[in-house]
Amino acid sequence: MTPADRQPRPPLRIAVLASGRGSNLLAILDAIAAGILDATVAGVFSDKSRAPVLERARSAGLDAHALVPREFPNRLEFDAAMFDAIEQTAPDLVVCAGYMRLISEPQVTRMAGRMVNIHPSLLPAFKGLHTHQQALDAGVAHHGASVHFVTPELDGGPVIAQARVPVMPGDDAEVLSARVLEREHPLLVAVLRAFAAGRIALEDGRVTFDGMAIHAPLQLGLDNALTPAPHPAA
Ligand code: GRF
Repeated sequence: MTPADRQPRPPLRIAVLASGRGSNLLAILDAIAAGILDATVAGVFSDKSRAPVLERARSAGLDAHALVPREFPNRLEFDAAMFDAIEQTAPDLVVCAGYMRLISEPQVTRMAGRMVNIHPSLLPAFKGLHTHQQALDAGVAHHGASVHFVTPELDGGPVIAQARVPVMPGDDAEVLSARVLEREHPLLVAVLRAFAAGRIALEDGRVTFDGMAIHAPLQLGLDNALTPAPHPAA
C-alpha cells in the first residue's frame, strides 16, 4: 500500500471565471492537451453572455455558463448564484482570468484557499485596471503578472507566483501588455501544475510551497518552472 502522499492524485478539477477573450483559458486547455497539466476544466463561467471566452469553451466541448447581473436583485445574490453554479461542478480550484467583477465577501470566504486570480502587474504594485499604463506612468524598469489567492480586497490576496518582464524604451501600453500576456500563460500553467501536484496551499493567510511558507512570490524562470524567490541579501 503506497503512502497516501504518494498515491496517484486525480486530475485537478478547475472552474474558470472570465469576462473576456479567454486566452488564459486556451493556455490551460493547450497545457492539458500537451500533457503538461494534469487537470480538467470542469466548467467556464462568465458574467457576460457574449464573452468570447464562452464561445472558446463551447468549441472545446466544455460546459459554459453565463449569469447576467441585471437578472439578479443585487450583487450579493448574483455572486451567490454564480458560486452555487460553480460549486455544482465540484472544482478543486476556481481560476479568475479576466473576471471583471469584485467578488463579494461571502463567496470569497466560501472559496478561501480554493480561488486564485491572475493579474497583469507585479503586485502589490498597480492594482486595479490599466496596469500597463500605470507601470509606464510610474517609469518602472520591470513589470509583469501575478497569480494570487483571492481575498475580499481587490487584487490584494497573498501572491503565489510572478513573472517579470522588462519595460523597454518606447513601450506603449499595447506593446507592454502583449509582452506581459506572453508570460501570463506559462505563469498560470506553472501555478496550476503546482496545485495539481499538491504543492501549493493557503495556510493561516500565508502561501505554502511544499509545506513551507514562502517569504516572497515564487518566480517563473525562462524554463517556465517556478522557483522560490532568492532570499534578500543578508
Ligand atoms: C489577462 O491579462 C489577465 O491578467 C487580466 O485579464 C486578462 C484576461 O485575458 N486579469 P484573457 O481573457 O484570459 O485573454
